[in-house]
Amino acid sequence: MIVVTGATGNVGRPLTRALAEAGRQVTAVSRHAAAVPDGVRHVVADLAEPAGLRPALAGAKALFLLLSGDMHAAGAGPADIIGEAAVSGVRRVVLLSSQGVATRPFGPTRIAMRAVEDVLRESGLEWAILRPGGFASNALWWAESIRARRVVAAPFGDVGVPIIDPADIAEVAAACLLDDRHTGGVYELTGPEVITPRRQAEAIAAALGSPVRFQDLTRDEAKAAMAQSMPAELAEDTLDILGSPSPAELRVSPDVQRVLGHAPRPFADWAARNIAAFR
Ligand SMILES: NC(=O)c1ccc[n+]([C@@H]2O[C@H](COP(=O)([O-])OP(=O)(O)OC[C@H]3O[C@@H](n4cnc5c(N)ncnc54)[C@H](OP(=O)(O)O)[C@@H]3O)[C@@H](O)[C@H]2O)c1
Repeated sequence: MIVVTGATGNVGRPLTRALAEAGRQVTAVSRHAAAVPDGVRHVVADLAEPAGLRPALAGAKALFLLLSGDMHAAGAGPADIIGEAAVSGVRRVVLLSSQGVATRPFGPTRIAMRAVEDVLRESGLEWAILRPGGFASNALWWAESIRARRVVAAPFGDVGVPIIDPADIAEVAAACLLDDRHTGGVYELTGPEVITPRRQAEAIAAALGSPVRFQDLTRDEAKAAMAQSMPAELAEDTLDILGSPSPAELRVSPDVQRVLGHAPRPFADWAARNIAAFR
């Protein structure tokens, strides 16, 4: 049995579906009750209380560990989840980390995530670590203003990064959970090309069949908006990357192609599959 945390989110939902379709027994974990694919068990648990994961982990052989943004600065809690997994008999953990752990190792949220990576490496379990860059699904931040006013309001409109489709992350996670060859793998996950927020807005407009206006935000305006849904320090770390990506953050990684045997999906694919959120 495989436990998927974050199972109702951008990455966890397609991962849960893929594992179930591959014929695996899956336990999906989130704090709120949710519909899951046929045959999947759903367990309500809060990762902030690692001992509460025991009912979900009982009998599990593998764990996909996704820590929500508000847990990144939470100290020992996330690392304790790995200990709970080990005592429950889990043998393999695939951790969703972040590209920033390598490219900006000194930001507070990166230091916390690096500590979780280190605990996993030293746990004696089989492990793989996924380090994605920015997600295509961050465009959902614009859903409400696109629905209401056909406006994308964002900072750094002409500064791009190679954002990744969460469906690709899920596919790589499934490969790491199911295939021994990925044990000890550290994969940097990006999309196929650098794409700016302005061009993302154009791709959404094309999928909508309706024009979308781009409104430039200052960094402070963007930080205020982001701080409503994530810790201020995570918003700062994210804005640092969005505003001035380093050469390493601009690089298109070969790892999706290497693991999956196909190129990562372009942003236009994500926009077309998720267009209902913007109508
Ligand atoms: N967005 C980016 O650009 C980016 C870049 C690099 C890395 N990441 C990492 O990717 C992760 C986010 O992935 P995502 O977009 O798939 O997430 P998401 O769509 O925001 O979904 C979060 C999932 O986790 C569950 N969850 C949240 N807090 C929880 C808790 N305390 N205990 C148990 N379950 C909890 C949510 O369900 P409930 O709310 O019902 O609990 C939901 O299933 C984060 O770790 C983030 O750091 C993101």
